[in-house]
Amino acid sequence: MKRPRIRADLALVEGYHSPQVDVAVRLNTNESPVPPPAAWHDAFVAELARVEWHRYPDRSCAELRAGLAAQYGLDPTMVFAANGSNEVLQSVLLAYGGPGRTAAVFEPTYALHSHIARVTGTAVIEGERDEDFRLTRSELDRVLGTGPDVVFLCSPNNPTGLVEPPELVRYVVDWAGEAGALVVVDEAYGQFADWSAIELVDDDRPVVVSRTFSKTWSMAGARLGYVLAPTWVVEALESVALPYHLDTAKQIAGTLALRFVDEMHERVDQLVTERTRLAAGLAALPVQQWESGANFILFRPGADTGLTGQQVWDALVQRSVLVRNCASWPRLEGCLRVTVGTTTENDAFLAALAEILGP
Ligand SMILES: Cc1ncc(COP(=O)(O)O)c(C=O)c1O
Repeated sequence: MKRPRIRADLALVEGYHSPQVDVAVRLNTNESPVPPPAAWHDAFVAELARVEWHRYPDRSCAELRAGLAAQYGLDPTMVFAANGSNEVLQSVLLAYGGPGRTAAVFEPTYALHSHIARVTGTAVIEGERDEDFRLTRSELDRVLGTGPDVVFLCSPNNPTGLVEPPELVRYVVDWAGEAGALVVVDEAYGQFADWSAIELVDDDRPVVVSRTFSKTWSMAGARLGYVLAPTWVVEALESVALPYHLDTAKQIAGTLALRFVDEMHERVDQLVTERTRLAAGLAALPVQQWESGANFILFRPGADTGLTGQQVWDALVQRSVLVRNCASWPRLEGCLRVTVGTTTENDAFLAALAEILGP
């Protein structure tokens, strides 16, 4: 057989995977450590029994969009939902990126921004954060000066955890309004931070904010994300979405979840409290860490420990604790990222790390 050749520009694009190892404490993919509320589960199962499976789902996802819009005081025409916020980002790039167009990212940041850009044929312009992982005005100006069609910001940024300053986001959005570009603020962890770019979303600004049910809503298994955007962006995203792209079960799952906003806020509060405790625990150990506005913390074993990030990661796995190994990623040499888990999981992680790093 003569095998068909994959697109030449995809041949070098690497996928994005977090190795799953069978361990007792899994703190590597920024999931919620707890399942959704039992009442959500019961309501979901009851609704599933009523589904007419021989019918296509509601193509416009009307109920889910209305529910999300009400949460944020926006019109339902300003909401677009898809299979995880990754698919939302893919839709944005299908509509506003593509061959002959460019997307700007500021590294280190969420690897999928540049990955999805490349898959959609969008050229990537890489900006660099400074050594504290902050974005300087001069680097921003340099990158914006190249005239990107789409600019990605990630706040809180994955994997650094840093929240972008509001004035910086406004600066980029103002620039985009003049330049005819689109700003995407990825807020997959937005609920854990104390500022959101959602306040900027309206029909007169070229900014969209993507969010997900995967993290704060404890629903990573559902694959549901959404974007809050000007009406004209939502129309563009609908033009690239496949018909009936959101299945019936997912629309029900998301719509029902919105009945549990109070529980969601409680979980966020608990995780923020745990994050503070985890940061304090790390501060007592010989590691460098970065201030996080998300449900994870980036840290690096100090040079005085004599251990590399890879060695610490291996030693944690030996103690049945899995964190994200960023040690060999460009710009993140030696770094590891730990997801905030339950109190018990965080204690297990801190105890294992203390043992590894020694007195
Ligand atoms: C910054 C960021 N954006 C988007 C996503 C994708 O989330 P989803 O599960 O909604 O596709 C993630 C997942 O880890 C993320 O870290």
